Amino acid sequence: MGRIPPGPPETGRVRRNRDADWNDWPVADYLAENYRRLHPCDIGVIHHHAAVYRRFAPGALSRTVELGAGPNLYPLMLAAAASRGVDALEPSAASVRYLCGQLAHGVDDSWRPFYALCRSLAPGLPADSAEALRRVRVVRGTADDLVPGTYDLASMNFVAESVTEDFGEFTALCDAFVHAVRPGGTLLAAFMERMPSYRIGTGPVWPACPVDEAALRAVFTPRTTGLRIVGLAKDRTLPEYGDTGVLLLTAERPAA
Ligand SMILES: C[S@@+](CC[C@H](N)C(=O)[O-])C[C@H]1O[C@@H](n2cnc3c(N)ncnc32)[C@H](O)[C@@H]1O
Repeated sequence: MGRIPPGPPETGRVRRNRDADWNDWPVADYLAENYRRLHPCDIGVIHHHAAVYRRFAPGALSRTVELGAGPNLYPLMLAAAASRGVDALEPSAASVRYLCGQLAHGVDDSWRPFYALCRSLAPGLPADSAEALRRVRVVRGTADDLVPGTYDLASMNFVAESVTEDFGEFTALCDAFVHAVRPGGTLLAAFMERMPSYRIGTGPVWPACPVDEAALRAVFTPRTTGLRIVGLAKDRTLPEYGDTGVLLLTAERPAA
């Protein structure tokens, strides 16, 4: 991902989610830049998320969702520790193809250190990542396809703030995320902090909405209980995305 110089987006107008061709998501470049090795921020996200899943006994959650799963397998590995059924909801044809291939034919070797770390923090996970990922079902769709109250837990990593420049649309996506769980259900998310629109490799500009902790509190406080937000330092082993770090969020949808 490359940083876009400050100023109005190339088109001169705010770019919304539908303005980007998500089917064309550059999976190979994205993996190369982000997930071919364990970066410090992945380690931080995995530790944080694993602690949330450890609240639940293995298999205690009947259905969970990973919203905007993309080609990232570690949130699915973590979810498999506690969930009997994980929906990886993803609109992009390219990412769906990658995910389906990984589930059908075994994961790329580069995911092994990720799985080893997940398993060290979630001992209920089986030795074989393929067995864990059998709990995952890939579903083609967007946040608009979420049916309120469906899931025990919803997880979302680097999605709402990374798919639109419109703060109203960011808020609507977070709202759909919150309502995807049943009352009392658990919410788990990671956000790039203050990231402007970005490039992956030399590809097109993808729309993003810079958010900070105050913006997340403004969106999630009225919609959730038990809101907790912690920060991870900017990861300088990643390409320069223009972010200032990562924000990790946990909360619950209010019971009834
Ligand atoms: C920056 S990527 C993050 C991918 C992955 N979650 C990760 O942790 O690396 C943003 C993802 O959101 C997906 N996306 C775009 N619009 C979406 C929408 N309206 N609803 C759900 N996902 C969307 C994209 O296809 C892409 O996979």
